[in-house]
Amino acid sequence: MCGIVGAVAGRDVVPILIEGLRRLEYRGYDSAGVAVLQHGKVQRLRAVGKVVMLEQALDDTPTAGHTGIAHTRWATHGVPSERNAHPHISRDGIAIVHNGIIENHEQLRRELQALGYVFTSETDTEVIAHRIHYHLQMQPVLFEAVQATVRELHGAYALAVLSEAAPDSLVLARAGCPVVVGLGQGERAGENYVASDVAALLPVTRTFMFLEEGDVALIERTRITVVDAAGKTVVRPQRESELSADAVERGDYAHYMLKEIYEQPRAVAQTLEERVAGGRLLAAAFGPAAEEVLKNTEAVQIVACGTSFHAGSVARYFIEQICRLPCWVDIASEFRYRSPVVPKNTLFVTISQSGETADTLAALRLAKQSGYLSTLAICNVPESSLVRESELVMLTRAGPEIGVASTKAFTTQLTAFGMLVVALGKHHGMPLEREHGLVTRLLELPALIEATLALDPVIRVLAEKFVDKRHALFLGRGALYPIAMEGSLKLKEISYIHAEAYAAGELKHGPLALVDADMPVVAVAPNNDLLEKLKSNLQEVRARGGELIVFADPDSGFQSEDGVTVITMPRHVSYFQAPIIYTIPLQLLSYHVATLRGTDVDKPRNLAKSVTVE
Ligand code: F6R
Repeated sequence: MCGIVGAVAGRDVVPILIEGLRRLEYRGYDSAGVAVLQHGKVQRLRAVGKVVMLEQALDDTPTAGHTGIAHTRWATHGVPSERNAHPHISRDGIAIVHNGIIENHEQLRRELQALGYVFTSETDTEVIAHRIHYHLQMQPVLFEAVQATVRELHGAYALAVLSEAAPDSLVLARAGCPVVVGLGQGERAGENYVASDVAALLPVTRTFMFLEEGDVALIERTRITVVDAAGKTVVRPQRESELSADAVERGDYAHYMLKEIYEQPRAVAQTLEERVAGGRLLAAAFGPAAEEVLKNTEAVQIVACGTSFHAGSVARYFIEQICRLPCWVDIASEFRYRSPVVPKNTLFVTISQSGETADTLAALRLAKQSGYLSTLAICNVPESSLVRESELVMLTRAGPEIGVASTKAFTTQLTAFGMLVVALGKHHGMPLEREHGLVTRLLELPALIEATLALDPVIRVLAEKFVDKRHALFLGRGALYPIAMEGSLKLKEISYIHAEAYAAGELKHGPLALVDADMPVVAVAPNNDLLEKLKSNLQEVRARGGELIVFADPDSGFQSEDGVTVITMPRHVSYFQAPIIYTIPLQLLSYHVATLRGTDVDKPRNLAKSVTVE
């Protein structure tokens, strides 16, 4: 998704901007650009493709300045091209970068064209640059012209604006898209920065100020002025980020995705830390306000997108079976346009790695007006909008996830749900020894994940079976059905092999027609109540000549034979642990298939890490 970086300093800011863009590359983008005030004039350079192309353009046209903005663009309106890349400029040296979507851009474009403005791109963004120029004709202060402009915009935006008429300053605005101000400290006093993600600024600062919805801010070298949506000057708190600049380095791993798969034992352990002790879930695990809410919860509504939706889908099985509470799980983009009927005392739960997914945020905002008991966010980014807008929060503590394909965020989400199940259960009659048993199962997870990661070399060999395949099926039952969905999503998003997931019992109702020797069928088969049912379903596959790959418990009775490959998983993984443990080999399988096929594993085509537009 698009990324913004900006800086005002007493030195050349281009290296800060380029390093910031590099650190935003993981979000996914197709072009990049930079604009600085060079000797008082806007100097802009843009390039299609990776940031390195922009760096080459900078080598050819040396560019320097003390005030600048930069951007990585992920095409929404208009193809990826140099003319559509940001920054966009208007008359008299106004340059802007924008994340988000302006829904009324066509109408604004027509009005501006009638006023004589000439457009050079197909983007929705360019209208903002011209509109700012238009307002500057009426009143010459850039900050006020930006305020007047954003009042006319419908949609979502984070904006950074510079102008030849206002050197040594940037104007920043936020509505619906995240943006932060980084404050220069110590030897960098007298410098301030802006970005759409703290990760972009970690080499220059760890002190941040987060803008709220509707804020417009003036960023000067020694001063930040913030005006809220009501036009009042406000002071937004400063916070120290706990992330270190090298938290996002890849180390010896070939890809971030592989590094993040291997970080899972630690990520899960960190998620449990200080929340469970002495075989019990601590009362404060979901924050001080949670006890009252959980006690009164009579039903649970979960909303999320993509991989996070799969985590919610697993949770549903546990919340119903263990807590005996009704639970519904919805895709956020669907939920937000329904008129949900809200049963009394329903807890609304969102799940998100980034906490900035536009559909999930919109669903949360709808929920807050719909009579839910309370809102809980399970999220990996403490500074995110989702966290700030929810009443209760459980942070997943996976650390920064850079690979576009979610791995450690998913298993930590499942861990957080494990704790939610215990917390809800406790308030709904769960006996102490049951709580103790479930907490013990959670604490065993890091070692079990470690043991499962030892299967990596075996799975690397298995991956060769998939390299020349065009389709694959994933099967599971019960709480392992969403794990089959997650396995199929991972394979398709990074290896570009078409994959589908089915609840194994559904196979004979249609998809069995697809099964032949060219369609590998992957099944996840822990030793649980549904094992015998799953076995019968897999017989149906074998009988049609389908090639089976089964991840199975050693005692499950599966044996490798012609057309059947059994990968033996750790012994006796419990019902409560199986979704997390059986996810690991599916992540490794997709990773190895993708590397064998030579795809861009960390930045798969057409995808973005943080989907901040609808
Ligand atoms: C897939 C993946 C996506 C995200 C989805 C929601 O590997 O990462 O499907 O899960 O875009 O993102 P978050 O969790 O940030 O809300």
